Amino acid sequence: MSLDQLRKEAVGAIKNAKDAKALEAVRVKYLGRKDGELTNVLRSLKDLSAPQKRIIGPEANKLREELEAALQNKLKSFAKKATESVADITRPGVKVRAGHLHPLTKIENEIKQIFTSLNFSVVEGPEVETEYYNFDALNIPANHPARDMWDTFWLSSGKLLRTHTSPMQIRYLENHKPPFQIIVPGRVFRYEATDASHEINFHQIEGLMVGKDVNLANFKYVIGEFFRQLFGVDTHVRFRPSYFPFVEPGLEVDIRIHDPNSPLHDKWLEVMGAGMVHPNVLRGVKLNPNEVQGFAFGLGLERLAMIKYKIPDIRLFYSGDLRFINQF
Ligand code: FA5
Repeated sequence: MSLDQLRKEAVGAIKNAKDAKALEAVRVKYLGRKDGELTNVLRSLKDLSAPQKRIIGPEANKLREELEAALQNKLKSFAKKATESVADITRPGVKVRAGHLHPLTKIENEIKQIFTSLNFSVVEGPEVETEYYNFDALNIPANHPARDMWDTFWLSSGKLLRTHTSPMQIRYLENHKPPFQIIVPGRVFRYEATDASHEINFHQIEGLMVGKDVNLANFKYVIGEFFRQLFGVDTHVRFRPSYFPFVEPGLEVDIRIHDPNSPLHDKWLEVMGAGMVHPNVLRGVKLNPNEVQGFAFGLGLERLAMIKYKIPDIRLFYSGDLRFINQF
C-alpha cells in the first residue's frame, strides 16, 4: 500500500470513529507499537536503499505526525462533547420548586407573633399527659361529668393523649412565680365523631395570665387586641357565660368579623373557652387565691384558620390533598 493510500484510509477511519474506544482501535491499527500499519512501514525503513530511505523516510514520519495530531484533535472533540452534555453552563436553569408552610403553621406563627408583641411568652408541653394534669389538677375529679366532654385515648401505661392544652396551666404554675403571661400552642386529641368542624386531632392555644390583680377587663383588652390584629380592626368580641370546672366565672368568647367576601361576614362565631382561674386550681399549686388571680383561655387553632382562610371543612387540613394545600 502506498503512503498516500494509507493516509487516505487512516484519516477516513479517524474521522468516522464514533467514540474514544473506536478511535483507540484506529490508533492501534495504524500506529500500534506491535503491528500498526504505519509503524511497520517506519520499521522497514532500515531495509531500504539509501536513496529510497531519503524519500520515504521523511514522508512516513510526516504522516505519523499528521495522524497523531488528527487522533489528538478527534479525542479532544469527544471530551468537549462529553462536558457539553453533562453541564452546559449557558443553558437556562431548571427552577427548584420550594415548599411552603402549612396553613396551620402559618396562622400559629402569626398568633405567636401577636402574643409576643403583647409581652406573652410562648411555652410548650407534653402531648402524652397524666390523668392528674389533664383532669384532677384542673378541678375535674374522677367521677366529674365534665370528663365526658373530654373523652380521649388512653394508653396502656395509664397515661392519656391530652384533650386540651390546659394541663400546661398547672405545669407552668408549679414552676413559676406570678406575675407572668404565657401562651401554649400544641396538638390535642379527642375521642369523638368527626364532621366539618370536629377532628379527633387538632390544635389549641392556651393562654394564662396571673398576677396580683389581673382581671376580666384585662382579658377583654388582650383578646380584643389579639382578634383585631388577626382579623382586622373591624372585628368585634363578645363574652357569654359558660362552664369549665377550672375557671370561675367561666365564659365563651364569640367574634364577629367584617369581611363582605366571607360567608362568615357579620355573624357571631364561637371561638374559645375562657374565664378566671378557679381558686381550687390556685390552691392546688400552693398559691393563695386571695393574693393572686388570673385569666385563662383556650382557643381552637383550626377554627381560626378556617375563618381566616375561608376553609369550609376542618378535615381538609389533614387530608394531604395537594389541590387543597397548594392554595396556600
Ligand atoms: C377546652 O378545651 C378548654 N380547655 C378551654 C379553656 C381553657 C376554657 C382555659 C377555660 C379556660 P373546649 O372543649 O370548648 O374547651 O375547646 C376549646 C376550643 O377548641 C373550641 O372553642 C374549639 O375552637 C376547639 N375545639 C374543640 N373541640 C374540637 C374538635 N373536635 N375539633 C376542632 N376543634 C375543636
